[in-house]
Amino acid sequence: MGEMMDKSSKQIRKLFDDITPTYDLLNHLLSMSVDKGWRKRTLAELSIVETDRVLDIATGTGDLAISARMAKNCPLVGLDLSRGMLMEAVRKWSQAFEGDSFQAVQGDALSIPFGDGTFDKAMVAFGVRNMPDIGGFLDEAHRVLRTPGRLAILEFSTPTNPFFRQIYLLYLTKILPFIGGLRSGNRAAYKYLSDSIQEFPSPPVLCQIFEEHGFKVIKSIPLTMGICYLHILEK
Ligand SMILES: C[S@@+](CC[C@H](N)C(=O)[O-])C[C@H]1O[C@@H](n2cnc3c(N)ncnc32)[C@H](O)[C@@H]1O
Repeated sequence: MGEMMDKSSKQIRKLFDDITPTYDLLNHLLSMSVDKGWRKRTLAELSIVETDRVLDIATGTGDLAISARMAKNCPLVGLDLSRGMLMEAVRKWSQAFEGDSFQAVQGDALSIPFGDGTFDKAMVAFGVRNMPDIGGFLDEAHRVLRTPGRLAILEFSTPTNPFFRQIYLLYLTKILPFIGGLRSGNRAAYKYLSDSIQEFPSPPVLCQIFEEHGFKVIKSIPLTMGICYLHILEK
């Protein structure tokens, strides 16, 4: 770690465009598929109903959006910086829902291209960690939600149990960049993933930031011994 990470939109877009072809495979492999359960829990806790207009921020290859559409047939928009990731989301969506097209929008979560109060629910899985200004993102999410709208944030964390933490950090700093680098040919991207998780604010600090930006914290749920956290916020 050490030097500041470059989280400019240009750099993040390039990083995810580069790893799009191996993203899904490595995601499930490196998380041993527990990420699927985390996304399911996110949707359950967000309590989406069929009439909700939902924004999936940093939608990536669309797994969360596709699961939401399968569970509830609600109007859904996916927003992401990376054209490569969005194109993969569009491909997966049309494969899952024949004759239907994904409403994919290329844009920045720090300047969401929708009007005030457009959405009933918003969600972001593993996206906030990549943003250079968490407060700026929260202000934008707050603006595009109606009152009382809900925002779900799913993000990696580092476990607090000292024994598990040691094992997890070994995995995060050595095994993950090694396997990720080998399979994707892009070790730097997986080193970035590891560094960005370690430098991300802890859940209590995050909850303070959420409240400073106008959200009420409804729930903060540790998942898989705290390697991931799900925050449910209300405007
Ligand atoms: C780790 S992926 C997560 C994708 C997906 N949500 C999932 O659960 O698999 C992070 C995604 O966030 C997107 N992203 C990062 N910063 C963003 C920003 N400022 N605005 C929009 N998308 C962003 C990246 O392009 C990438 O597709």
